[in-house]
Amino acid sequence: MTDLAAASVFSLGDRTVNRMGYGAMQLAGPGVFGPPKDPAAAIAVLREAVASGVNHIDTSDFYGPHVTNRLIREALHPYPDDLVIVTKVGAARGEDASWLPAMAPAELVSAVHDNLKNLGVDVLDVVNLRLMGKIHGPAEGSLEEPFTALAELQRQGLIRHLGVSNVTPVQVAQARGIAEVVCVQNLYNVAHRDDDALIEAFADIAYVPFFPLGGFTPLQSSTLSEVAAERGATPMQVALAWLLHRAPNIVLIPGTSSIGHLRENLAAAELALPDAALARLNAIGKGDER
Ligand SMILES: NC(=O)c1ccc[n+]([C@@H]2O[C@H](COP(=O)([O-])OP(=O)(O)OC[C@H]3O[C@@H](n4cnc5c(N)ncnc54)[C@H](OP(=O)(O)O)[C@@H]3O)[C@@H](O)[C@H]2O)c1
Repeated sequence: MTDLAAASVFSLGDRTVNRMGYGAMQLAGPGVFGPPKDPAAAIAVLREAVASGVNHIDTSDFYGPHVTNRLIREALHPYPDDLVIVTKVGAARGEDASWLPAMAPAELVSAVHDNLKNLGVDVLDVVNLRLMGKIHGPAEGSLEEPFTALAELQRQGLIRHLGVSNVTPVQVAQARGIAEVVCVQNLYNVAHRDDDALIEAFADIAYVPFFPLGGFTPLQSSTLSEVAAERGATPMQVALAWLLHRAPNIVLIPGTSSIGHLRENLAAAELALPDAALARLNAIGKGDER
């Protein structure tokens, strides 16, 4: 079994998690809408993740909606003491599966209560405020009203820690002026490097890339394939190992609905990449891949 500790740990507030975790979004039905075709398989993936040492699971009540949280509850409740479940609020789903902003204070209160109920907990470990910016990219604009509403729920004891998602550096700084921020969750991977400076500017908090494998458009690169062949690994493992090498505050939540892919992804925690390979992989995001 993979030793996840090989990739070390990082803090999420007063909790410590393995830098290799798991993202549950892929467990909902197609388009992250409705139930999965095979709920038993989804539950098996969650149980395998935790049995393999994963102690950080990313989710949201708007996956499904309600689907991934209920699967997590069914698979894992009562939760192991060391398991940190991170959720996010700020969006809702239309009946046509669309993603709608839901950022008004009353909508955030309701979303936090839905998460508490569907996960079956009294307190949420970490809640990210997910800004709707440009869907998969941030847009400037104040987060004062919604983040203040979440900080109030934290004061009431419903949330342990707060984070932000799909944000600019200005918005991270603004949030930190309102309450402690323990993590930033933005789109980032070996080919999509807009946040290089942000990762370094906020090196004291966890940076949790979404779409670490490219998300709905899986990463494809001849360099990834070449390095993978040289290291006896898969391209996806190299993409994850590159992120682990990129900065110590990067914490991973690769998503999969398959036990085989889960095992493959977790094994990237043990994959060492020499400096020469890292240099070639770095070139992918700079657009000068050979
Ligand atoms: N904050 C946000 O706005 C936001 C947005 C998106 C996602 N997220 C979070 O980030 C997590 C990760 O993102 P993601 O799941 O969307 O994207 P991802 O981890 O980049 O990639 C997931 C995709 O890659 C496939 N995959 C996974 N492992 C693989 C492997 N070893 N070989 C080949 N294909 C593989 C999956 O299909 P299979 O199921 O077939 O393995 C799925 O199609 C999500 O689960 C979610 O918790 C957050």
